[in-house]
Amino acid sequence: MTTSTRQQHTAGGPHPGAPADHAHGVAAARATDLSKIYGQGETQVVALDRITVDFRQAEFTAIMGPSGSGKSTLMHCMAGLDSISSGSARIGDTELTKLKDKKLTQLRRDRIGFIFQAFNLLPTLTGLENITLPMDIAGRKPDKEWLDRVIRTVGLTDRLKHRPNQLSGGQQQRVAVARALASRPEIIFGDEPTGNLDSRAGAEVLGFLRNSVRELGQTVVMVTHDPVAAAYADRVVFLADGRIVDDMAEPTADGVLERMKSFDAKARTS
Ligand SMILES: Nc1ncnc2c1ncn2[C@@H]1O[C@H](COP(=O)(O)OP(=O)(O)O)[C@@H](O)[C@H]1O
Ligand SMILES: [Mg+2]
Repeated sequence: MTTSTRQQHTAGGPHPGAPADHAHGVAAARATDLSKIYGQGETQVVALDRITVDFRQAEFTAIMGPSGSGKSTLMHCMAGLDSISSGSARIGDTELTKLKDKKLTQLRRDRIGFIFQAFNLLPTLTGLENITLPMDIAGRKPDKEWLDRVIRTVGLTDRLKHRPNQLSGGQQQRVAVARALASRPEIIFGDEPTGNLDSRAGAEVLGFLRNSVRELGQTVVMVTHDPVAAAYADRVVFLADGRIVDDMAEPTADGVLERMKSFDAKARTS
């Protein structure tokens, strides 16, 4: 079942993330003083150290930072895939820590899309079947107009009957992206969604993610280590040692690269 707020969004109408001009600035997800600590005592690791960040609606955010800086942990905590140690993680107005298992599962299913580095498609299903699978499992009917629009935007219209092994890597990941978009989640998280793709296929998927933000009003938060990929985003948030160390608007690949170099230089001298 869709929730009442979601039912207001008729096909072709504005997405919750994209309605009016003031859409930018409204938080689709928010971390406040979020900490995540793994293990105890001697082996304790502070993966996230009091992170406070807003991910605004209809905005495409890239998360960057060295290996081990907490990027995946942040995605997992915000998407309700991992518990947090202290602070708060919110999707819209919903505080994740307050949800019991069942409600959390529902929230993940109904309000969040997650794109993994491995495409995670079912080999025996066609492209279209893979795209609608989560909704089929939830017993929800896809909104046909919306689904058509998503499929057109991903450029998969003539590939719907193909099975994953008949598709290129880029096409498979576009199926995975379309699957994440099909239920019109409030926010999509991706952990290096182009990490397994060559640069051309990666560009295809990134271009599509950007279109889904610009044209469909989707909110996207994506981890990447690639400055070129980050330049597709509206904003880059830099992590180091579980903290946010910088926040860059309208990134360019060169600008991101410069910023990364300055962090490396700082790390060497400290
Ligand atoms: N399940 C876990 N158990 C213990 N430590 C973990 C676990 N997951 C991640 N970590 C640690 O938390 C820190 C952040 O990891 P991660 O979020 O995966 O970083 P990134 O994605 O930026 O490479 C690292 O020091 C990592 O070793
Ligand atoms: Mg990671």
